[in-house]
Amino acid sequence: MYHIRFLKVPYIVPPPSNTQQSSSKTPKANAGEITVSTKITLTTELGENFFYGSVPVRAEIAYRQNANSSVKKRKRAGSSKDKASSILLGETTALWKNGMRALQLDISIPRKVVEELAADNVQIFERVFINATDAADECPLFFESDDVPLPPTFFEIESMPFRFGQNDAGSTPKQKPAVTISYKNDDSLYVKRHVEMGQSGTLTLAEEIGDSMAKHLWDSGIFLCSYLRASKANQEEFISQLITDTDRKQQILEIGCGCGTVGIALSKLVKNSRVLLTDLDSAKEVAERNIVLNQDRSLTPVEFLPFDWDTSQNDEQQNAAVLDTQWDIVVACDCTYNPDSFTSLTDVLKRLIGADTKLLLVHKERHGSENTVFEMLEQKNVLKLQWRQLLEPTAVKSRVDILVHQS
Ligand SMILES: C[S@@+](CC[C@H](N)C(=O)[O-])C[C@H]1O[C@@H](n2cnc3c(N)ncnc32)[C@H](O)[C@@H]1O
Repeated sequence: MYHIRFLKVPYIVPPPSNTQQSSSKTPKANAGEITVSTKITLTTELGENFFYGSVPVRAEIAYRQNANSSVKKRKRAGSSKDKASSILLGETTALWKNGMRALQLDISIPRKVVEELAADNVQIFERVFINATDAADECPLFFESDDVPLPPTFFEIESMPFRFGQNDAGSTPKQKPAVTISYKNDDSLYVKRHVEMGQSGTLTLAEEIGDSMAKHLWDSGIFLCSYLRASKANQEEFISQLITDTDRKQQILEIGCGCGTVGIALSKLVKNSRVLLTDLDSAKEVAERNIVLNQDRSLTPVEFLPFDWDTSQNDEQQNAAVLDTQWDIVVACDCTYNPDSFTSLTDVLKRLIGADTKLLLVHKERHGSENTVFEMLEQKNVLKLQWRQLLEPTAVKSRVDILVHQS
């Protein structure tokens, strides 16, 4: 999967001052228009490879309609599932070409409209996406599958909501006030992604735009969501291996949860359940942000607790909350990338797995040493493999392995 990433979140291109020659890269802003720009890149999840082909990239600026808004109704936005409530303000298409590392996308909006939106304090967002049909020649299929909905080849991105404002300071008396973009608190550090969960709705997940491991969405989690969704819809073996229907509340634990993708997806799929997301303290902010983004009172409660696999790093309460519960399902998704933590990971799994616990282990094979984890689990007599699904994408050389173990 290729991730569309913001190298620069949406920003206003200042109009060139009278004395300044505009550079060839500065979009030619018409006096009656405001240009909102963003810089994106198309990379694999770790950012190690840029997309190799040519493909049109679309960007749209829109706002979600608010019944109280006095801003007049405009054309509906084109691509998304929430078409019905999105009002399009501007759009552009630019070509990503082989060899590129960054692409600038400029969208012009009439100044009058921007001023109305600023006065009305309306929340705007920008969405950047690639239509699957536009990419078909370059990137035919992510993996072959008859019955499982494919995860997107290009993972759409949405900015966090921002507002237009006006700033008198800094503009010359002859100029109109400079238009600004403002994000709430630290929202400019995050972006949103949407993961389709079929009848279970849509996951809306925030990820940080920096490089931190704990604060990103990773391919295997997204793949797993596609599998969970398909298996549930088709009542496949995968789900029956994983979830036993009982009247008793299912206790679900995710370790190394990062943004919380899988745990939050399970909370939507397993109705009578309680989900505890755990990771290092550095993931707390993004995980809790995502719990709130997906909160639904009718569904399973989801909580986050900092918990290190090296249990000597946790206090007694943290260890008790995680180690003294009888878990029905323990999930570890993309947690086998670091050989230095294999011992603490397998030790903690041994302590977490009871007679009736199922362990869902998912990873994208990045290097052969990951197999050591499975050997260690066998040696420690923790688990037996019950079910395995290997996905072999055709467009990107990487495999995603979904395994269900039981002791
Ligand atoms: C590649 S990310 C995967 C995140 C998430 N499971 C997903 O699939 O999107 C690996 C996660 O393992 C967590 N992790 C690494 N070492 C850990 C440790 N010793 N204790 C707890 N979590 C750890 C990282 O903080 C990170 O969030």
